[in-house]
Amino acid sequence: MNKNIHDLIIAIDGHSSCGKSTVSKDLARLLKIAYIDTGAMYRAVTLYALQNNLIADGKIDEEGLKASLDEIDIRFRTNLNKGTNDTWLNGKKVEEEIRNLEVSNNVSQVSALGFIRKRLVELQQLMGEKGGVVLDGRDIGTVVFPNADLKIFMTAEPEIRAQRRFNEMKAKGQNPSFKEVLKNVKDRDQMDSTRKESPLKQAADAVVLDNSHLSQKEQLDWILDELTEMGVSFEAVYRT
Ligand code: DC
Repeated sequence: MNKNIHDLIIAIDGHSSCGKSTVSKDLARLLKIAYIDTGAMYRAVTLYALQNNLIADGKIDEEGLKASLDEIDIRFRTNLNKGTNDTWLNGKKVEEEIRNLEVSNNVSQVSALGFIRKRLVELQQLMGEKGGVVLDGRDIGTVVFPNADLKIFMTAEPEIRAQRRFNEMKAKGQNPSFKEVLKNVKDRDQMDSTRKESPLKQAADAVVLDNSHLSQKEQLDWILDELTEMGVSFEAVYRT
């Protein structure tokens, strides 16, 4: 029997800055399904902590943050036509702010906290349980939705990932040094895969997508081919 895309959960995990969110966003738009950027949720909590002086000199006031959990409201507003998926924190759009270097430098530590993960995983499960959704992150196929219908593990060479993030930041008018961005990418790989709580690891039943030398369209085609092979019926708006 054909599977319907609107019932399925697609999990995309992998290293930082390898284009998971770009592919996920495009896939969601193409297939008219929802997109949940779980990294944005950890970033939003980090931004909240920074704004409320719960992180000072890289040290987190864990008790303070725990006590503030109920004050943190994270939502996504998706515009399928425009292809935008914006993160809102407590009624304010923070999509750009959560990508700045200060948040990037502190988010690994925040995302290593068990009580934060527990809260955000519950929220992600609620948001995605009905299906018709693509989620990207580090632990989607291993922890959030271990029964996801399609699990993809994305990666690319660190230098290529750093260059992409560097270009992105430049385009936004920021002025990073390449060395700093590369260091941030490597540090996050190290922290993400060695942390105690839900470390980044490939699920046994995930398929690997190394996009070091693939265009955006080649990546999307690769995923659509996986879905077709699974017997999933969908209407993708482009496909030449
Ligand atoms: O994908 P990203 O770079 O926006 O993620 C930001 C941080 O959040 C990154 O350090 C890894 C962490 N993260 C996580 O621990 N679990 C997730 N499901 C998503 C992101």
